[in-house]
This record gives sequence, structure tokens and C-alpha cells, in this order.
Amino acid sequence: MTDHFAINRANWNDRAAIHIKDEAGGYRVQAFLDGADNLHDVEHEELGDVTGLRIAHLQCHFGIDTLCLARRGASCVGLDFSPVAIAAARDLQQKTGLDARFVEGNVYDARKLIDGHFDMVYATWGTIGWLPDIFGWAKVVSSLLKPGGRLYLLEGHPSAMVLDERTPELRPGYDWRTPLDQPIIMNDETTYTGDTTKVEHATTHEWLHPLSDVINALIGAGLSIEALNEHERLAWKFAPIMVPVDGRRRMWVLPEGFPKLPLAYSIWARKK
Ligand SMILES: C[S@@+](CC[C@H](N)C(=O)[O-])C[C@H]1O[C@@H](n2cnc3c(N)ncnc32)[C@H](O)[C@@H]1O
Repeated sequence: MTDHFAINRANWNDRAAIHIKDEAGGYRVQAFLDGADNLHDVEHEELGDVTGLRIAHLQCHFGIDTLCLARRGASCVGLDFSPVAIAAARDLQQKTGLDARFVEGNVYDARKLIDGHFDMVYATWGTIGWLPDIFGWAKVVSSLLKPGGRLYLLEGHPSAMVLDERTPELRPGYDWRTPLDQPIIMNDETTYTGDTTKVEHATTHEWLHPLSDVINALIGAGLSIEALNEHERLAWKFAPIMVPVDGRRRMWVLPEGFPKLPLAYSIWARKK
């Protein structure tokens, strides 16, 4: 049987090593170490006050967003399956002394790996597309939340993610629902930050999840949806035609003259 997770982990280890060096500048690692808060405009505008909240950050990468939540006063646990990312996250935590700890593991094992129940589960910018089973993911989210606790999910919008990023006119290129056992197989020699360093493991296995599946999965796992918002900005350069916009941290939009599309969505969902 294909081990999708092993294939993706090898790729993410390579990318984490590139991202922590931050030669393209998109992660603003030095600014973060100098005290900056690096969250993008979208989550900054939606998040509200997190002071005193216990937050579980799923797929935390090398922890910079986790540590920004801690810098805002939350007590955080970040989980990621890339040992390279987790080692870098622990190093940043040591350097800053912020209230966060980091756990290495698969998101589907999060309940076993992390103790306690949380006020918030936080998953942003490039998480569920790496996961085959969205219904299983929603159960994990629910199991981590205390009653009344909330999920904040911020993701690439399926209306945009079905488009073939390699075509200048952004033609539809992918089915809107990816079967569990037939992932979209991508081969990108470089990562999305603009750094030209080649990764050793270029292959990834990815899944597109319809918005209805995400919402129904959360409802089925015992959460009620409190908000669904759509955004015209993305945290990564999804297609070569996209242009950067300045803000708290660099984001990407479609060029002037291109029809406006929802590029991202966010969901607030509360555990009953
Ligand atoms: C695009 S990054 C998330 C970026 C994140 N928003 C941040 O703070 O920079 C995706 C992360 O998901 C992790 N990942 C992918 N599949 C995973 C899985 N099954 N379990 C745990 N982590 C996973 C990768 O290692 C990577 O760090």
C-alpha cells in the first residue's frame, strides 16, 4: 500500500529545512526573533483576543505561527509530522522562551499524542490538503476541543484549488473531490516561497476537499458552524500569474483584470 504520509513527510522535511533559512524572506524569521508578530492580515483580522487561551495548533510547520499565538498570550501546543520542522520549532521556542511546546506526529494521532482539552484548535494555510480523510480529521479536532471550544480553520478555497496553476488562464485542472486512495500527485522541485533551492523529495500526494465535506465533517463530529468567510488573498503564490500584496506579511492576489475569485476561506466552528 502506498504510504502517502511517508512520501509527504520526506518532502516536508526538505521544505522545512529551506523555510527555516528563510532566504526568500516570506516567513520573516529574523523579524519574528526580533519581536514581530507574523500572522497574516486575514487571521489577524479574524482571530480576536487569544490571551489566556489554550490552543492546539495542528500542522504547525516550524512553529512560527504557534509562537506568534503564544506571543499574543495563548498557551500553545504545536503538532507536525516533520521532525525537521519540529526541531526548528523547538529551537525557536528556546530562543524566545514563549509559552509553546511542540509534538512530532501525524495529525490523525493527535488525540493520543497531546494531553488535555483546548479552547481553540488552530489550523491555517495549507493543512487539510495533505490529509486524505477529512471526516477523520474533524473527529480529531472535536476530540481536542473542550465543550464550547472553537476551531479556526483558514485554507485555500476549493473554487481556486481546482484550477490548474500552470495555465495562464487558470483552466480547471483537478476534480473538486479527490478520492481517498487516488491523491493528486504533484512533482515540484522547489517550494512555494520563491526560494530556488531544489528539494530532494519532489513528489507529494494531495487531496481537494469540497467545502460541503469540510462543513459536514465538522457538524458530524459535534461542532456547530459559527462563521464561514471567503477571502480574495492567499498566503502562498498559488500560480505564477499571482501578484504580491503588502501587509503584515506578504500575501498573493490575482492580477488586475482577472475575474475575482475566492482564494481562501475560513471557518469558525464550536464544539457543543
Ligand atoms: C503548509 S504547512 C502549514 C503551514 C503553517 N500554517 C505554518 O504555520 O507555517 C503544512 C504542514 O503540514 C505538515 N503535515 C502534512 N501532513 C501532515 C500530517 N498527516 N500530520 C501532521 N503534519 C502534517 C507538514 O509537515 C507541514 O509542516
